[in-house]
Amino acid sequence: MRLEIAVLGGDGIGPEVVAQSLKCLRSVEETFGHSFKFKKALIGAEAIDKKGTPLPEDTLKLCKNSDAILFGAIGMPKYDGNPDSKIWPEQGLLRLRKELDLFANIRPVKVFPALIKQSPLNKKLIKHTDLVIYRELSGGIYYGNKSMDSGTNIATDTCSYSEDEISRITHLAFKAAKNRRKKVTLVDKANVLETSRLWRRVVRSIAKSYPEIELETLFIDNAAVQMILNPSQFDVILTDNMFGDILSDQGSVLAGSIGLLPSASVGTEHAMFEPIHGSYPDAKDKNIANPVAAILSAGMLLQHFKLNEEADALVAAVLKSFSKKIVTPDIMGSSKYGTNYVGDFIADNIMELDDNFNMNDENIDLGKSTII
Ligand code: IPM
Ligand code: MN
Repeated sequence: MRLEIAVLGGDGIGPEVVAQSLKCLRSVEETFGHSFKFKKALIGAEAIDKKGTPLPEDTLKLCKNSDAILFGAIGMPKYDGNPDSKIWPEQGLLRLRKELDLFANIRPVKVFPALIKQSPLNKKLIKHTDLVIYRELSGGIYYGNKSMDSGTNIATDTCSYSEDEISRITHLAFKAAKNRRKKVTLVDKANVLETSRLWRRVVRSIAKSYPEIELETLFIDNAAVQMILNPSQFDVILTDNMFGDILSDQGSVLAGSIGLLPSASVGTEHAMFEPIHGSYPDAKDKNIANPVAAILSAGMLLQHFKLNEEADALVAAVLKSFSKKIVTPDIMGSSKYGTNYVGDFIADNIMELDDNFNMNDENIDLGKSTII
């Protein structure tokens, strides 16, 4: 398959973790005979510094003309820590999501058996965690009218949702549940918010056309507690933009590190793949950032194009790095391995899986396909 992929490393550790995804995709390209063309472009703080805007027009154009986008991370304290700043790196990512109509952000959360010891949480409770968050990504409070009146010191953010915006992601979540454990949990705040009440009405009505799927509703405050107390009760979590942002970071604690979780942001015409973590500026260029979330995001890109064997091979290489303890220090404090070494190890271990591939505890997930 020939794919043109826009590569937006972004800020902080973004470029170095994305460099590891590229190594892995090169290895997939060689092993399976594909042709991937990568084109880099600026976004975020670096784009502000060099071009005066967090999303330069040539970056947007490149993304629109590519088959997919690999994204690193965004954010720099000199901009986002400063309430007087008029321009933020994050605006680049938010505008890109909107322009490409990436309305669904898919964030799988799995506990890897080899890493379970690293989690600060009760091992028995988190052991069977295998959930996926469907986060609405192009609406809600992130995009509603905003105002800041420095005279009165009153600021406003508006949360608004239309039936269509709710309905399109709801269908994706229910379709995903069909291939999983057939349960959707709608997370909202319908005891307080009108938008949540609309979500409930729309989702309940759509649920009728998926009779095989069980629909459950939970308030966000309770969902946050349930996710830590009993995460294996969840299969597909469907939620709005901001609740999904918060819950998915919380989900990373289950997996053992925020450096492990990938995501796919999809619309009807475009798709972008990004780790859920931020830019972690303190770790920039220190060769300590965990590249696994970015590498698994490249795996989700492969799955998106139905390159499932390739995605399985990538995940198998990641699992091998876990079982051989070739991990960065966020996973094991005593580890001497850096971003580059872990990336090289995973890329070098991407190979065609034969039929005798050992379905042991570590690899068992591969039997039902990879990341999602
Ligand atoms: C994420 C990030 C972004 C978000 C930020 C960087 C704007 O936290 O992708 O989860 O809030 O969506
Ligand atoms: Mn986030």
